[in-house]
Amino acid sequence: MKSSCLAILFILIAKFLPAQNTAVLSADSAKGTISRFIYGHFAEHLGHSIYGGFYVGDTSKIANTAGVRNDVIAALKKLKVPVLRWPGGCFADTYHWKDGIGPKNKRPTIVNTNWGGVTEDNSFGTHDFLNMCKLLGAEPYLSGNVGSGTVQELTDWVQYVNFKGKSPMSDLRRQNGQQEPWNVTFWGVGNEAWGCGGNMTPEYYANLYRRYATYMTGYSGGNQMFRIASGASDADYHWTEVLMKNIPLHLISGIALHHYAVIDWNKKSSAAAFTEQEYFTTMQRALQMETLVTKHSAIMDQYDPQKKIALVVDEWGGWYDVETGTNPGFLYQQNTMRDAMIAGVTLNIFNNHSDRVRMANLAQTINVLQAVILTDKAKMILTPTYHVMEMYNVHQDAQLIPLTIKSSDYVMGADKLPAISGSASKDSLGNTHISLVNIDSKNSQEVVITLQGKNYKVTGSRILASAKLQDHNTFEEPEKVKPVSFNGVNIKGSQLTVKMPPFSVVVITLK
Ligand code: AHR
Repeated sequence: MKSSCLAILFILIAKFLPAQNTAVLSADSAKGTISRFIYGHFAEHLGHSIYGGFYVGDTSKIANTAGVRNDVIAALKKLKVPVLRWPGGCFADTYHWKDGIGPKNKRPTIVNTNWGGVTEDNSFGTHDFLNMCKLLGAEPYLSGNVGSGTVQELTDWVQYVNFKGKSPMSDLRRQNGQQEPWNVTFWGVGNEAWGCGGNMTPEYYANLYRRYATYMTGYSGGNQMFRIASGASDADYHWTEVLMKNIPLHLISGIALHHYAVIDWNKKSSAAAFTEQEYFTTMQRALQMETLVTKHSAIMDQYDPQKKIALVVDEWGGWYDVETGTNPGFLYQQNTMRDAMIAGVTLNIFNNHSDRVRMANLAQTINVLQAVILTDKAKMILTPTYHVMEMYNVHQDAQLIPLTIKSSDYVMGADKLPAISGSASKDSLGNTHISLVNIDSKNSQEVVITLQGKNYKVTGSRILASAKLQDHNTFEEPEKVKPVSFNGVNIKGSQLTVKMPPFSVVVITLK
């Protein structure tokens, strides 16, 4: 064969063979715990998140426990939701908790000024939320009103839900039927104080935070309160710097960060009818989380080298146009394989940064933004994002094992992204789990992992994949996208080979 023919043959082989990706799993060097709270969720009074999503009221024909849908409870328990943030979001800084306690027919209404201007009847309040968290086995994370509230109001809330002894607020709680305090650990001190939470400067907010945090203590018995400051948006590193500089470490346990994978705030994309270019750009935005977490952490390291304060990414996810015909203020969007990719890569980033990222809350649980559940009256479906969160829950409270990946590129025109992302951990039963994502929309990827420090065998493997990036579950076809067992994994000695189809998520169990 002529040399020119040979060259063409090699080019063709290279083009059609899956690109090689290599990785090293260092079993000997466990890096500390991946907090289960990284797998947290967020439920705001927004659209049909609470009303119609979680809560239908106890007179509803839809099966419920104290008004909370039983199908939702069962699905979320399977997900092992560790923490749930409520009541906002922007809503939190308009919310007055005393309007949501006592007899439901006597509660005043609230106009949801941020989200659609609808009038809510406050039938879902503090008792409903905290008792629901108990049903779910999730820790509550209460987001306090700083923007339009007072120090007294927030302090009273702490006393109401956490104080065991006799006091005006704990007596009121008992009068409303709850004898024992709920002992809420996680408290947000305002939300997006730079925007809907009051349009403050970081200097002003830092001072305000100090004042609020000072008086939020004293009602928690022996329990430690975990106070979380309203953090930066995206790459606003100045915000983090000012807060870290000005808030004494003893007053703060966590500092928030919000980042949405949005193409352009003025020109988003359809949630389910998007182009490949829009998919690529969304993945670019999602992968920015790596830089954001690294840079915000580096600032925190300067003031808190012992990493006492957690970076709490309490809002993250994909944000698209609302579905046609739905209220623009309700942020209802479909959820496709693109969202599965966002979830997979983002959770890998959080796992790999779990020394500093110790809580995160996907926005939002039901019917809003990157939801894990969609409801339509009595019907409920699970989204591709749900399935990724479920597959990844094996990492909760497991020991992080470093997985160093050398990835090939996912190329789009002049731009490229790493095709493969991953993370690994070892659970308390001695199982090692590796989660891998191939975001490449066209190419299968072979990942060859060198397993160091231990002899392994593969004991399980699951995959989430589908024919089209735009594939999603509907009320008519609720199981179009779901995880299945995966046979693309091979182990030979210390070499694990994984053949990943385009845009897929794989979780492998080794022992
Ligand atoms: O999650 C929707 C909104 O996004 C939240 O209310 C707000 O905090 C953020 O801007």
